[in-house]
Formats: sequence, structure tokens, C-alpha cells
Amino acid sequence: MKKILITGGAGFIGSHVVRLFVTKYSDYQVFNLDKLTYAGNLENLKDIETKSNYTFVKGDITDADFIQQLFQEKQFDAVIHLAAESHVDRSISNPLEFVMTNVIGTVNLLNAAKAIWGCSKDKPVPTDKRFYHISTDEVYGSLGDTGLFTEQTAYDPHSPYSASKASSDHFVRAYFDTYNMPCVISNCSNNYGPNHFPEKLIPLCINNIKNNKPLPIYGKGENVRDWLYVVDHANAIDVIFHKAANGTTYNVGGHNEWTNIAVIRLLCRIMDKKLGRAEGSSEQLITFVKDRAGHDLRYAIDSTKLQNELGWKPSLQFEEGLEKTVDWYLTNEEWLAHVTSGNYQHYYEQQYVHR
Ligand code: NAD
Ligand code: TYD
Repeated sequence: MKKILITGGAGFIGSHVVRLFVTKYSDYQVFNLDKLTYAGNLENLKDIETKSNYTFVKGDITDADFIQQLFQEKQFDAVIHLAAESHVDRSISNPLEFVMTNVIGTVNLLNAAKAIWGCSKDKPVPTDKRFYHISTDEVYGSLGDTGLFTEQTAYDPHSPYSASKASSDHFVRAYFDTYNMPCVISNCSNNYGPNHFPEKLIPLCINNIKNNKPLPIYGKGENVRDWLYVVDHANAIDVIFHKAANGTTYNVGGHNEWTNIAVIRLLCRIMDKKLGRAEGSSEQLITFVKDRAGHDLRYAIDSTKLQNELGWKPSLQFEEGLEKTVDWYLTNEEWLAHVTSGNYQHYYEQQYVHR
């Protein structure tokens, strides 16, 4: 039985990765390590929490002693590392928290894995172990009107969030080069889908349209993001985890570029239909607000390497994925109510402490 540690598994993308691995690989023992910050929500995993190959561990990756002990005790064979502070706006108001979790936390995990796997430059890279670091396309900085990020694009982060992720990527590569750690990295574009915390653009606007509240669009809404359905990202993680060679990097993205204003107009049209409102009524909620500081103009990913070498491709067109996402939020009203009221933070105590 393979023991796999997934960090940040109670978050948005992590919960989809945990679900996929627990249900698809019954011979893997999956451990979900999460601090349960405001972004961690165990309600995301209600449907699989009693599976015999799943264990939740509450803990903080910035706590080096705790991490060392956990690795010594469990002897994980692999790590899929998603735990992070992930919201650019929060990184602008509190950069140090991003340094602590995204940089120090990643180095703590690398050190703990290195210790139990006995990695060093004098020994070959172990072939039965894996340290897989999940990163973002934001490390590449901002594109002009043309061009795509490839795996060769030089790093040029602009926000404290992307700077912290870029730093963690450099540490992961340094551990491969210096200690022969079995490392792999992927850099993905913006995700959307179920369980997305409603501080990010798409779920925030779904919630606000539902409640007839203003839809805050930064600047003129001309910034471009390359959107990928979260389950397609989880599937890419599965493929890369199992097939990538050590020391490699893959870009993940859906060739799906949209300006923010176009995304929100499409969302408004979908929601008018679903909520039985007059066409064009939700668009009236669009409100242009002060731009984000250092707002990157355009992200766009070239995922040719992943598609050609490992055979992954996205499964959903954007309109289809967005409609599925809206359906999920309208059906899972309790999830949204708990997240917006803060009630979800008690789920851990109810489910785990009193067992
Ligand atoms: P998220 O904010 O939804 O979830 C992060 C999770 O990490 C939460 O469950 C949180 O409780 C946990 N966490 C935070 N600090 C921790 C700590 N110190 N110790 C242990 N756990 C901690 O993030 P997400 O959107 O699911 O992103 C997951 C990963 O994917 C991140 O590394 C992010 O950089 C990367 N990524 C995200 C996107 C995106 O569009 N959301 C795109 C590309 C890459
Ligand atoms: P976000 O979902 O925060 O993801 P990221 O900053 O990682 O790309 O933002 C997506 C885009 O939407 C980004 O260009 C900023 C913009 N945005 C708004 O216009 N209004 C908002 O309220 C938010 C949260 C984001």
C-alpha cells in the first residue's frame, strides 16, 4: 500500500485531488494534511471522509518539528503539495503570511521528505518516491496581447503571492539539483468549479448575483485569465503524478482566455436563465471598482508539452463548465451559507474531536 500525503486537501483544488485519489486508487492510503485556515473546509470532503483509505490530519506546514515527526511516524512514499495561501488580494495586505506558508512551509516538507527518503547527491534519485509541488502560472508574470507561457518562460512574479510561489518552485528545483530529491512541478492557470471559496472572482460573483449585490470588477475588466475546470486540473495532477520523470515541469491550462468582463457577462447570462430573471438584469449589478495594485494584465498557458508527452487534455468547454459550476452553487446552498456565515469552521470539531 502506497502512503500519499496530500497537503491543503481541505481547500478548493486539494479537495478534488483528495477525492480523485481516494476513490480511484483504493490501494493508496491517502493522508490529507491541512491547517484548516479560512480557506480549508472539511465539508468539501463529506462524501469520502469515512472511506477506509482516507485519513485527515490537522496541522501546520510551517511547524518544522511537527512536520518532521509526522513524516518519521507515517513514512510517506509520496507528497502532493497544494497547501498554500492562495489569494492575491490577501497577499497584498499580508505578504509575510505568504512567505511563511508558501516558502517556509514548502521547505519544511522538502526537509522532512529528504530525511525519511535519505536523499543525497551521492545516491541516485529514488524511483519509488515522489515530491510533487503544485504551482501557478502567475510565477511567469504578465503577458502583453500575444504569446503564451511555456515551461521555458523566465520567472517574473509581480504580486507577493506569485513571488512566494516562485520562491517555493525554486526551492523544489534546488532540492532536485542538490539532493537528488524525486521532484516534479506543475504550473496551472486559473481554476474554477465547485468548492471554490467565494472571495475569488467567479464564486464571488455567483454569490453576489444570487443575492442581488454589486459585482466588483477591478479597473476596466480588461485583464485576461486562462480558465480551467478544477476537475480537469485534478486529472492533470493524477497523470503528472504517475507519469512525469523526476526533475520535470509541466504547464497545465485549457487554452481558454477570457477578459474578466466577458466572464462576468457570460455568468450573468447563465444565471439570469437559471434564476428565471429577465435577460440582462444581472448585468446591471456590474460595478467597476479601483484596480488591484500591480494587477497582471494577461495570463495564458501553453500546455502542449503535457498534452503531447503525457496525453492529458481538458474535457470541458468553458460555457459547459461554467454552467455546471453555477448549477453546483445553486444546488449546494447549505455549503455556500456555511462558508459565508463562517459556520463551516466548526465542522472539524463536530466530526473529528468528539469521535
Ligand atoms: P485554497 O486557498 O482553496 O486552499 C489552500 C488550502 O491550504 C486550505 O485548505 C488551507 O487550509 C490550507 N493551508 C493554508 N495554509 C496552511 C498551512 N500553513 N499548513 C497546512 N495547510 C494550510 O487554494 P487552492 O485554490 O485550492 O490552491 C491550491 C494550490 O494550487 C496552491 O498551492 C495554489 O498556489 C495552487 N494553484 C491554484 C490555482 C487556482 O486557480 N486556485 C491555480 C494554479 C495553482
Ligand atoms: P482571482 O479570482 O482573485 O484570481 P487571480 O488573481 O489569482 O487571477 O481574480 C481573477 C481576476 O479577476 C483577476 O484579474 C482579478 C479580477 N477580480 C475582479 O475584477 N474583482 C474581484 O472582486 C476579484 C476577487 C478579482
